[in-house]
Amino acid sequence: MTGEHRAERMRTPGFGRVLTEHIVSITWTADRGWHDAVLRPYDDLRLAPACVGLHYGQSVFEGLKAYTLADGRVGVFRPDAAARRMRRSARRLAMPQLPEAVFVDAVDALLQADRAWVPSRRGQSLYLRPLLFASEADLSLRPAHEYTFLLMAFVTDGIFEHQVKPLRVWLCEDHVRAAPGGTGEAKCAGNYAPTLLSQQQAKERGCDQVVWLDAVERSWVEELGGMNIFFVMGPAETPRLVTPPLGGTILPGVTRDSLITLAADMGWPTLQQPMSVAQWRAACAGGEMLEAFACGTAAVVTPIGTVVSTSDEWVVGGGAMGPVTRRLRDALMNLHYGTAPDTHGWVHVVPGTG
Ligand SMILES: Cc1ncc(COP(=O)(O)O)c(C=O)c1O
Repeated sequence: MTGEHRAERMRTPGFGRVLTEHIVSITWTADRGWHDAVLRPYDDLRLAPACVGLHYGQSVFEGLKAYTLADGRVGVFRPDAAARRMRRSARRLAMPQLPEAVFVDAVDALLQADRAWVPSRRGQSLYLRPLLFASEADLSLRPAHEYTFLLMAFVTDGIFEHQVKPLRVWLCEDHVRAAPGGTGEAKCAGNYAPTLLSQQQAKERGCDQVVWLDAVERSWVEELGGMNIFFVMGPAETPRLVTPPLGGTILPGVTRDSLITLAADMGWPTLQQPMSVAQWRAACAGGEMLEAFACGTAAVVTPIGTVVSTSDEWVVGGGAMGPVTRRLRDALMNLHYGTAPDTHGWVHVVPGTG
């Protein structure tokens, strides 16, 4: 592809529409384990209509990003953490677990081949999408005997990276995303399809995102559709962060984990403790909570401005991005783009991209 054609496609990339030119594929079978790792041109798949992944949802995925660092090399943010989470997701769905080193090698191979697709503008990035699904054609209801791992990549502006407009969020009180003992902490396909109707309902109410509540009492805040949530308590000079604890129903976000560490670096403690809707509403009304934000690989750090429920709506702080949210966002983005020292060893530099 010519540089000109590529630049044209990268101009308005959307999310998952502008894929790069290659893909990595690795097969697993019960008798041979992982084999046939190949980097090949991106193209349509040939799949049996009776493939298990399509019917029973034995399918897990990941999401991580590559950036052009300030020194011109390509950096990937915490690929080891994504590899480990994919292994845990696979385990939950009785699927084989791809070794962490093989995952990172696949990331390197794809980025070396598609180096030209890693955007160099701050705000843009290359989103990597690893996918593992049951590719066996056999519709017995049992773990499949054949799986396909694919790694693809697409250019993204980031869902919210430019437009840092505070989110208006919808508290979903009828449907649930995850229940105790279910698959909430796995990044599996089946966790996402059931959220789409609620997302549509949120849109109809002028909201950008759904806030999921716990399945038992329907009163504790868990997370958003594709993001974790943080509340900022106390004054901006000495804030305390609160984020719901990981109890099996929440996706353990890599961004969530990174922000807890970055906040500690700034001297700000994070309490991993439950927050009810009633406490959220009262803390905003009483002025103890001036900021709340959502975070994730796609969304980075995005403020929450307004909360809407069936009975009322309220504004968080001034409804705009507050200073604590901004400092955390900047600290994270500086690591992504290599404009701050990588003191935690989170940035994996792709060999040969200097
Ligand atoms: C349901 C859900 N919660 C939270 C997150 C944020 O996780 P991460 O920071 O690893 O992207 C994601 C995105 O992967 C998600 O899908």
